[in-house]
Amino acid sequence: MRIAMIGTGYVGLVSGTCLADFGHHVTCVDKDQGKIEGLLASRMPIWEPGLEALVKSNVDRGRLEFTTDLSKALKGAEAVFIAVGTPSRRGDGHADLSYVFAAVEELAGLLEGPLVIVTKSTVPVGTGDKIADLLKEKGAPEGVSVASNPEFLREGAAIADFKHPDRILVGAEDDKARAILAEIYRPLFLNRAPMLFTSRRTAELTKYAANAFLATKISFINEMADLCEAVGADVQDLARGIGLDNRIGAKFLHAGPGYGGSCFPKDTLALLRTADESGVKQRIVSTVVDVNDRRKKAMADRVVAALGGDARGKRIGVLGLTFKPNTDDMRDAPSIPLIEGLQAAGAEVVAFDPVGREQAEPLFKNVEYASSAEGAAEGADAVVIVTEWDEFRALDLNDLASRMRGKLLIDLRNIYHRDEADEAGLVYHGIGRGK
Ligand code: UGA
Repeated sequence: MRIAMIGTGYVGLVSGTCLADFGHHVTCVDKDQGKIEGLLASRMPIWEPGLEALVKSNVDRGRLEFTTDLSKALKGAEAVFIAVGTPSRRGDGHADLSYVFAAVEELAGLLEGPLVIVTKSTVPVGTGDKIADLLKEKGAPEGVSVASNPEFLREGAAIADFKHPDRILVGAEDDKARAILAEIYRPLFLNRAPMLFTSRRTAELTKYAANAFLATKISFINEMADLCEAVGADVQDLARGIGLDNRIGAKFLHAGPGYGGSCFPKDTLALLRTADESGVKQRIVSTVVDVNDRRKKAMADRVVAALGGDARGKRIGVLGLTFKPNTDDMRDAPSIPLIEGLQAAGAEVVAFDPVGREQAEPLFKNVEYASSAEGAAEGADAVVIVTEWDEFRALDLNDLASRMRGKLLIDLRNIYHRDEADEAGLVYHGIGRGK
């Protein structure tokens, strides 16, 4: 099947590449000439494990193409996916749909025959209806339908998530759209991935509900962590204790510095705007957002408190800047309010991230960058682990301690145990580990 993919961001590039890897012919389109030229030369616009090799092998086999010319991508296509960004809109935080509608406007002028337009971008409920109305208004040909197929992949594990999804969700209003999407995802049925067909509106809302629920689990366990600290309990054991109950599930119960990234913060806000527009309160999600915002800001205070209440002149080694490991993405990363807070308290920050430096540099002022974790520890009063990159999991704590001026190890991801830090002569502060 021939497929066009509009947008070569995280979702578009990974989805387009994986669909090509399943044997479809995929043409990815982007307005950004530099990005397309880079992709044609196998230069990835994002850092995602395994992506470069998969792009290259599918380009070499002639199944994956890149162009800035939408009309070329549409030739013979039975489906066109819209996978452009839907960032938070300035002012009210609702999803900014300008890229989606710009793509639809352009499409409307080029469509020649029947095909399915599939929104893969995360779009508020009702967007598919608006797209269908716009197409009608612009005189799109008979047989053009609009479906919703939200994507659930995570950054850093994007290829594995796309190829082995927990489910494939399709919201469609006609049989032809359902049949084409079933054909596109047929290779995944071999992996026994369940395919769920719903109405278009339900699919759109389900994507927001999924992210909001995951964000809720994180804020829940983070508040439990605070309670554990106050009463002398351990949140890691508590998470295991509740997570082994299948009704709760063990995943997304890691306490930490609060969630970040390009999805949870923006999607929870957009869901709240949808709720406002509908006049239906979403008190839980609203609280989750508030808890998370406060938590991210509170991380700097936590470090200052560990320093005895005064951070002036203190040198802090920060390990990990990106919002999670295996990505160079800095969007809404907990490291941002942490570093700003530490600097405001008078501390000097030296940071190391295995891949995020280039994206991080424009965001911070007066941060010194080290080229290794050990380098960041050199002369530091405290080392703070902010992102749980694998290479931070087996640091030689004795070596780290010997390089430091002070003795504080502040582990915001709970990747060490107090005992091993004690043995190295470090004073350990984890998250939610009262005792
Ligand atoms: C998230 C969802 O997990 C994907 O299913 C979804 O497709 C994606 O958003 C999206 O809407 O595009 P992503 O933002 O890439 O994926 O990363 P996650 O692994 O979900 O992590 C998000 C944040 O939550 C990170 O800051 C992470 O550190 C934090 N987190 C996650 C925790 O603090 N604790 C946990 O237990 C899990």
